[in-house]
Amino acid sequence: MPKILAIETSCDETAAAVAEYGDKPFRVLDSVVASQIKIHMATNGVVPEVAARAHIQKISPVVKESLKKSGVDLEDIDVIAVTYGPGLAPSLLVGAEFAKGLALAESKKVLPVNHMLGHLYSALISNPKLPLPNINLIVSGGHTHLVYLATGKKGLPGKYKVIGSTVDDAAGEAFDKVAKMLGLAYPGGPSVAKAAAHGKKDYAFPRPMLNDKNYDFSFSGLKTAVLYKIAGEKLNVRDPQVQADIAMSFENAAIDVLVKKTIRAAKEYKAKSISISGGVAANQKLRAELDKAAKKIGLPLAIPAFELCTDNASMIANAAAIMLRQGYKPVEPEKIKIDPAADL
Ligand code: KG4
Ligand code: ZN
Repeated sequence: MPKILAIETSCDETAAAVAEYGDKPFRVLDSVVASQIKIHMATNGVVPEVAARAHIQKISPVVKESLKKSGVDLEDIDVIAVTYGPGLAPSLLVGAEFAKGLALAESKKVLPVNHMLGHLYSALISNPKLPLPNINLIVSGGHTHLVYLATGKKGLPGKYKVIGSTVDDAAGEAFDKVAKMLGLAYPGGPSVAKAAAHGKKDYAFPRPMLNDKNYDFSFSGLKTAVLYKIAGEKLNVRDPQVQADIAMSFENAAIDVLVKKTIRAAKEYKAKSISISGGVAANQKLRAELDKAAKKIGLPLAIPAFELCTDNASMIANAAAIMLRQGYKPVEPEKIKIDPAADL
């Protein structure tokens, strides 16, 4: 079975995975993620140069560990897959240059993989037979996309089309900003979700663009509504109950829009399944609400395991495996170029 070594360093996780693909189903042999959460807690957010320095320190041990744990020698790897973008330039460079170096030393080829494509296909890792066409909601720290995924050849995913995006902040970014307003710890998404679980009072924040006849999102106005509520009512954001109420109200509003627009897209595009991906897809409430809504319209919902929602290299290996089976060819290492603003 051909083997892939995948490397992902687009933001603040240094990740590597070894996987098998081919005629048998795609299988991850081992996946390692070195999280930088503790480092970025000190600055309450990611400082790109600090992230890059941490990637430099971790990349070699992480790749070695994934090879060792999977019991595969580097020389037995067929293709090295690496995230080329989108992401933070200093972070992307570390992974791309490392992959290039490895490939040059071992005379191997490299397959550049789009980070968002990794997220898009991540729902297929544990649901390879998911009925297509599919509507996937990608909700990460930097992006919010609704994507239509068509049926391709040989049961593989076909063409994809971004049918809607955020016009301002990404969903994860909004969670992170609200967390900052409430003085909650980095990373904001999980902190807001944790506080929201104790919420009692719902401030009924606005649901931006909910009824617009498109699939775009906007989270900047919702974030401002939170800010005005706190300032206007002079709320004490150090009070855990205030934190919980604001967090819950924000979460309810954001999830309401995400779920309703995803369901509307699935219906209008006559999708046969729905999926979610990206860091915010780790949110329990979003998972539960989308599950309820998908059941109501009788469509299967694929949700990646938690560790496949936030950044990881298994999803890059999986996207690479799909691309190779679709006929994409790996390239000479010198051809690898990062693209921090890459589109899906
Ligand atoms: O996909 P990801 O790991 O990195 C990017 O590609 O951006 O997504 C990170 C985002 C962050 O904004 C983080 O706060 C958010 O995902 N996130 C969550 C949860 N876990 C992570 N947002 C809401 N609820 C969560 N449980
Ligand atoms: Zn991501």
